Amino acid sequence: MKISGVPYRTIWPLESGAVRVIDQSRLPFELVTLDLTTLEDAAHAIKTMVVRGAPLIGATAAYGLALALRTDASDRRIEEATKILGATRPTAVNLAWALARVRSAIAQLAPAERFEAAFREAGNICEADVEQCRSIGAHGLELIRQVAKSPTRRINVLTHCNAGWLACVDWGTALAPVYMAHNAGIPVHVWVDETRPRNQGAALTAYELGAHGVPHTVIVDNLGGLLMQRGEVDCVIVGSDRTTACGDVCNKIGTYLKALAAKDNNVPFYAALPVSTLDWNLEHGRDIEIEQRSAAEVTEVTGRTGAGDITSVRVVPAGSAALNLAFDVTPARLVTGIITERGVCPASREGLLGLYPERRGA
Ligand code: MRU
Repeated sequence: MKISGVPYRTIWPLESGAVRVIDQSRLPFELVTLDLTTLEDAAHAIKTMVVRGAPLIGATAAYGLALALRTDASDRRIEEATKILGATRPTAVNLAWALARVRSAIAQLAPAERFEAAFREAGNICEADVEQCRSIGAHGLELIRQVAKSPTRRINVLTHCNAGWLACVDWGTALAPVYMAHNAGIPVHVWVDETRPRNQGAALTAYELGAHGVPHTVIVDNLGGLLMQRGEVDCVIVGSDRTTACGDVCNKIGTYLKALAAKDNNVPFYAALPVSTLDWNLEHGRDIEIEQRSAAEVTEVTGRTGAGDITSVRVVPAGSAALNLAFDVTPARLVTGIITERGVCPASREGLLGLYPERRGA
């Protein structure tokens, strides 16, 4: 997608053998990039959320594993790097998926061949992600056309957190249909949940929609219900960090409450996700590990001062405890449909198997 007319991806390899990423901890205030040259750089970038969003976490981990093998491609090093990267963030299954994919690409190779092959496979993961997100966008566009009813009426999509191109390599998952609708001339407008505590909606979703010229309005997380009661939301589209084999959708904390409000108001609620987000090994959402992050993200708010510095200020009384669980699970029964690169299906085991028949009996 473009920023000020310049096409960008969130991650790309350099001639030098390093990997460049957009530093998302500086957005929306400044667009800066960071070069990752070692395993430690990649692990740190994921842990500190310089890069974030399920598909991008996977892509970065894949490159991180490749970088780890540059000087030592022994079996022991592969194990060590997998462990370090695998421990960076627990909820998005794309991380483990990407590490497994790189490992399988180099499994039969001699150590001397592993670095180049791993680097190439990380690139393949990125290219595949772009194509999958493009395809999610095309399928989601048809849904938006259906919901729009008339070509001239403004269509309001509500989204939570950031599941746009900044969360992936390009296009995004939940926002890909929005970009395609906008590009097709459909008058689409996005209600952007600010998404406390880290405000990925206010900071990142608003930034990327603005950069592409998509009309949007940032709202506090609790406004969605009222907007739905007033008929001002035509559909909800969210991303996912892990979706189980029976269609339970794990996503940023607060997603479940949006799904409940959508159900109560007959608003279609869709989750958009690529195959790398599907966890076929888990049946129920309750078994997903939910990341618990620092209480400081709740007790403090980060922003830019008038002088231009990025700073955090405390908003909770000293001595009050704070709990920061970063994701929740929306049960399949509240999900109208899942949009994947293969099409749209009911949120159920049968629905998903209909799109991925090769998983039957797997
Ligand atoms: O904690 P984050 O910023 O990595 O969480 C991101 C989300 O919850 C997104 O909705 C999710 O990764 C969707 S994937 C495009």
